[in-house]
Amino acid sequence: MTRLILLTPSHLPAIGAIDAKESETTLAAMMAKPAFAGLGLEVDDHLMGFIYGWVIDDQGEVIQITVAEDHRQQGFGRRLLAGFIERFDLRSCWLDVKSSNIPALHLYRQFGFVEDGARKGYYQSTDPTATAETAILMQWKR
Ligand SMILES: CC(C)(COP(=O)(O)OP(=O)(O)OC[C@H]1O[C@@H](n2cnc3c(N)ncnc32)[C@H](O)[C@@H]1OP(=O)(O)O)[C@@H](O)C(=O)NCCC(=O)NCCS
Repeated sequence: MTRLILLTPSHLPAIGAIDAKESETTLAAMMAKPAFAGLGLEVDDHLMGFIYGWVIDDQGEVIQITVAEDHRQQGFGRRLLAGFIERFDLRSCWLDVKSSNIPALHLYRQFGFVEDGARKGYYQSTDPTATAETAILMQWKR
């Protein structure tokens, strides 16, 4: 059975197991703020995806959405995005995405997000030889 649940600090270890780049400390500090909004997607009571960001009134911003690698391309990303908008009653939503992230760009465009600008060199790598990547800004409106 799959279901969407509200993210709480109790989910931090499972989030780290899905994506080791997620810092438990940073995410715990975000969760403590009133504007934090996050959902998890459970399959048979195991967390297999998550989405989180900020919500103020009816405006949202997605900071991260991730589906466990072996559960991708089964509609879970779309379900998390739809859940974020419905559960938090959003009329508009913003996000940014690396211009090279084809799966995420597909998901957002297919959902109805439209491009609303770009920020060159926005994503800096810790590798000094790597080129900084462009961020595509996208917005969705009801
Ligand atoms: C982006 C991500 C969340 C998508 O999750 P997902 O569960 O695979 O997405 P869905 O199955 O709901 O797919 C939604 C749409 O995107 C398309 N899509 C998903 N992965 C794709 C891929 N690798 N290549 C092309 N299209 C892809 C699907 O085909 C679908 O479109 P369709 O209905 O027209 O077929 C997932 O790839 C992921 O976790 N990536 C790593 C983290 C990340 O980059 N997050 C985004 C940060 S901005």
